[in-house]
Amino acid sequence: MATLDQMFDVRGKSVIVTGGASGIGRAYAEVMADNGARVCIFDIDAGSLDQVVAEMTAGNRDVWGQVVNVADRPRMAEAFDAVAEKHGRIDVVFANAGIDAGPGFMTPEGERNPEGAIENLDDDHWDKVITVNLSSVYTTIKHAARHMKQTGGGRIIVTSSIAARINESIVGTPYMPAKAGVDHLVRHMAMELGAFGILVNAICPGPFMTNIAGGRLKNPADRKAFESQSLIGRIGDPEDIKGLALYLAAPASSYVTGSQIVIDGGSLLRMT
Ligand SMILES: NC(=O)c1ccc[n+]([C@@H]2O[C@H](COP(=O)([O-])OP(=O)(O)OC[C@H]3O[C@@H](n4cnc5c(N)ncnc54)[C@H](O)[C@@H]3O)[C@@H](O)[C@H]2O)c1
Repeated sequence: MATLDQMFDVRGKSVIVTGGASGIGRAYAEVMADNGARVCIFDIDAGSLDQVVAEMTAGNRDVWGQVVNVADRPRMAEAFDAVAEKHGRIDVVFANAGIDAGPGFMTPEGERNPEGAIENLDDDHWDKVITVNLSSVYTTIKHAARHMKQTGGGRIIVTSSIAARINESIVGTPYMPAKAGVDHLVRHMAMELGAFGILVNAICPGPFMTNIAGGRLKNPADRKAFESQSLIGRIGDPEDIKGLALYLAAPASSYVTGSQIVIDGGSLLRMT
C-alpha cells in the first residue's frame, strides 16, 4: 500500500454520519461520498436532511438519510440496523451530532455574563447538552461496535472539540465536561475495541463557521473573538476538515487509534 489511490481508497465503504445535514458533518458526508463511499446521514432536522440529500444525490453521490434523534436509543439501534441491511455492513461511523451550550459566564467583550453564571444555569439545559454531546456518542459507538465486530473491524471517528482540553469562558459551561468526557471515552473505546480491528479516534476542531449556536460565529463580536485566537487569523471552513476526515477513514491511518487530532488553525497554542 503506497500509492495515493490505495492509501485513501474508501470506495464502496458503508458510512454513517450523525448530524450530517449541516456544517462539519455535512463536510464528512461530502468527502466520503465524493470519494466513492456509500453514506447514510442521520439528522434530527428533517427539512435540512431532505435538502442536503437532494443536493448531494443530484451530484451523483451515493447518499441517503434517516431522520434520527441521536438521543433516542431505540431509534438509534433501528437506524444502524437499517444501514447494515441496506449496505450489507457498516465500515465507518462519524459520531458528530452536537449542540452548543448557550452563552458562557463571560461575554466576548470580556464582561461577566449573568445568563451563563453557574447559579443561573437551567438544569434541563445541562441535561440536554450532556445527553446529546456525550451520552449520544456512547450510543453511537455502541451500535457501531455491535455491527463492526461482525465484519472484522471498522473506523469510529468522533467530533470532539478543543474545549475538551481548555476552558473557554465564552462558551456555555456544560459543553466543557461533555467534550472532555468524549475525549476520554474515545481513548477508553480505542483500548476496548482495538483487538477487534476497530480504530477509534477524535477530531478536535477549534472554531468552524457552521450553523451551531444559530450561526453564532457569523455575529461580528463572536467572530472577532474566535478569529483572533487563530494563528492564521481566520475561523475554519468545513472544507478545511475534509482531509483529516478522509485520512481517519482510509487505509492511510491504519496505525492510528485512541488519538485526539486537533484542527484549529493553531488556536490552542495561542490559548495555552
Ligand atoms: N463549529 C464549531 O466551531 C465546532 C467546534 C468544535 C466542535 N464542534 C462540534 O462539531 C459537531 C458538529 O457541529 P457543527 O458546528 O457542524 O454544527 P451544526 O449546527 O452546523 O450541525 C450540527 C448538526 O447536528 C444535528 N443535530 C443536532 N442535534 C441532533 C440530535 N439530537 N440528533 C441528530 N442530529 C442532531 C443538527 O440538526 C445539525 O444538522 C458538534 O459535535 C460540535 O460540538 C463544532
